[in-house]
Amino acid sequence: GKGEYDHFMLKEIYEQPTALAQALEGRIDPENGRIALENFEPGTFADIDSVQFVACGTSYHAALYGSLALKQAGVQSTALLANEYSVSAPPIDDDTLVIAVTQSGETADTLTAMRHAKAEGASTLTVTNVVGSTAAREADEALFIRAGPEIGVAATKTFSSQAVMLTLLGQRIAADLHGEVPANLESLLPELEAMPDSLQALLEQSDAKAIAERYENSQSYFFIGRGLGFPVALEGALKFKEITYEHAEGFASGELKHGPLALVTPDTPVFAVFNGVEDEKTLKNAEEAQTRGAPVVAVCPDGHRAVDIADAHLAIPETEPDLAGLLANVQLQLVSYYAADLLDRPIDKPRNLAKSVTVE
Ligand code: F6R
Repeated sequence: GKGEYDHFMLKEIYEQPTALAQALEGRIDPENGRIALENFEPGTFADIDSVQFVACGTSYHAALYGSLALKQAGVQSTALLANEYSVSAPPIDDDTLVIAVTQSGETADTLTAMRHAKAEGASTLTVTNVVGSTAAREADEALFIRAGPEIGVAATKTFSSQAVMLTLLGQRIAADLHGEVPANLESLLPELEAMPDSLQALLEQSDAKAIAERYENSQSYFFIGRGLGFPVALEGALKFKEITYEHAEGFASGELKHGPLALVTPDTPVFAVFNGVEDEKTLKNAEEAQTRGAPVVAVCPDGHRAVDIADAHLAIPETEPDLAGLLANVQLQLVSYYAADLLDRPIDKPRNLAKSVTVE
């Protein structure tokens, strides 16, 4: 049941520290500080020449996150919408690894993409929450995110768990391909292990409800981010539109000036995700919106330069650039939740949507 919470979505947002602790359990070897993924011994991915992620919706945003992280680690990688895959897949061969990211393991579009890849000779791997799902049975290998059941139609804890698992998997792939431990792993691992505590701290002192109240009745809600902050901006907007039925869009920070700026008015708050990567540029992009009257909500740690310039602030704990977006995402989940609650929406079952989409 929902216990003390009004909605499953809120319960599941608050379950994220536990979900992440379960995802990480036993997967970082404390002896040597290496990643230990049960069915993937070191060397498993040594022969891979490129990685293609396929997924839909929120899982696609997690896949984009994983793909960008892999690219940063020097691995040829791309994330594709599963429903576009059959018409737009890059070349596939025996050395291609196709990773299907799907919470339910039952999304028809994603299964079709995975079957196509398999038929073309790729190795397939699924990152899923459901043991015994179709994806888990059909993929060559499965990696389980262990988030526990997610009842709310809007995916929350499974996004965070997928992104963390893809971070671990990406480090394993990069290590296998390059024959050495990725340079940033030493600083990343302790921060990964600290994620459950960082999230707990964030949840205990979030100002998301006040922000949702402050910007109630706006015309549109925009979300911007750069690098790994970009999929977070897309996800922030998807969650917002799904459960509030208000117009929301996510953009790469630098794209705002290439068109969307025409939509910006004092009635369109802009949520800007800062993750320690070219933050000065993102700040400039946000200020361009602010000049047109838009209130800017900076999602960043206390003491960040953006806090002085923004109209409002959602605080996240200090962490590695590779993980900051995941903390920011949780603040944005809460803003969506409280905004939908103010509008009295049926948060756990938004109109026209189903938890698992089993048709193409
Ligand atoms: C959004 C949402 C959907 C799913 C998408 C894929 O909150 O839940 O966008 O992420 O339908 O579902 P899975 O991950 O089960 O393949």
